[in-house]
Amino acid sequence: MFVLKLVLVACAVLVKCDAAFVDTLTKCSIQNDECLSNFYESSLRKIGSVGIPEINMPPIDPYKITNVTVKVLDVVTVTMTDGVLRGLSKCKSLKYHMDLKKRTVVQEFVCNLSIIGNIVIEGSSPAVQGIFGAPSIDGVGTGKVKLEKLFFRFDFPLIPFKKEDGEVYFKILNKNIKYKYDVKKVIFEAEKLMVGSEDISKVVIPYLNNNYEIMLQIIGPEFFKKGKDIFVDVYNMFIGRISTKNYLSENLSYLVD
Ligand SMILES: *[C@@H]1O[C@H](CO)[C@@H](O)[C@H](O)[C@H]1NC(C)=O
Ligand SMILES: *[C@@H]1O[C@H](CO)[C@@H](O)[C@H](O)[C@H]1NC(C)=O
Ligand SMILES: *[C@@H]1O[C@H](CO)[C@@H](O)[C@H](O)[C@H]1NC(C)=O
Repeated sequence: MFVLKLVLVACAVLVKCDAAFVDTLTKCSIQNDECLSNFYESSLRKIGSVGIPEINMPPIDPYKITNVTVKVLDVVTVTMTDGVLRGLSKCKSLKYHMDLKKRTVVQEFVCNLSIIGNIVIEGSSPAVQGIFGAPSIDGVGTGKVKLEKLFFRFDFPLIPFKKEDGEVYFKILNKNIKYKYDVKKVIFEAEKLMVGSEDISKVVIPYLNNNYEIMLQIIGPEFFKKGKDIFVDVYNMFIGRISTKNYLSENLSYLVD
C-alpha cells in the first residue's frame, strides 16, 4: 500500500515536472532589460502554434482575425471577415524597459507578418461613382498582406493585481497605450476580388503594391490600431496567467498588499 502511494506521488510529480513551463523560466530582475526582453521573445516562441496548456495560454501563431474593417478615404470599406495572422511567434524583441516606480513599460518588437483571409469590399458614395463608374460597389474575395520588418513600439502602464492564489500578476489596459510603428515593405496579394462579375484584383493589386507608401498613410492608422489591440490581447492572455514570482526575482507582494 505504501509503495503504491509512493509510485502514485512520484508519477504525479513527474507528470507535473514534465509539463511545468513555469519551472523552465529564468527569473529576471526588474532592472535587467535584456533578460526580460529575452523572456518575452522566448515566450513567444514557446507559445507558438501549440500554446501553453499548463497556464491555459492558447496558440498565437496563427492568430485568428474576424471582422476587421478598414476605411479607405471614406470611399470604400474593406472588411476581413475571417482571416489569420501568421508570424507573431517569430517576432524579435528589440527592447524592454520597466520603470517600476512609474509602473510603465516600453517595449519594441520587429516582425515579419502575413495576414490572409476573406474580404468584403463595400462602398457607396459620389466618389465610388467617379472611380468605379457605378453608384455602389460590393465585392468579395481573398486577400493577403505581407508586412516586412514591421517595427512596433509600445509605451504603457503596467497594472499589478492579486489573484485568489495570493500571487502578484500584471495586466495592461488597452486605452492607455501609446504606440508607434514603421514598416519597411508591404506586399498585397489577392486571389480574386469580385465586384459584380468582374475580377478587379489584376487592376487593384498592382496599384496597391506600387503605391503602398500612400496606402500605408491612408489605411495605416486604423490597421495598426488593430495591431495594438492584438498586442494587448496576447500580452494579457500570457502575462495575466503567469505570476510574477515565476519570472521576476523581486518579491512584488508589497504592490498589492
Ligand atoms: C462578423 O460579422 C458577421 C456579419 O456581420 C457576423 O455574422 C459574425 O457573427 C461576426 N463574427 C464575429 C466573430 O464577430
Ligand atoms: C524578416 O525577413 C528578413 C528577410 O526576409 C530577415 O532578414 C529578417 O531577419 C526577418 N526578421 C524577423 C524578425 O523575422
Ligand atoms: C514576499 O513578501 C511578503 C510581504 O510583503 C511576504 O509575506 C512573503 O512571504 C514574501 N514571499 C517570498 C516568496 O519571499
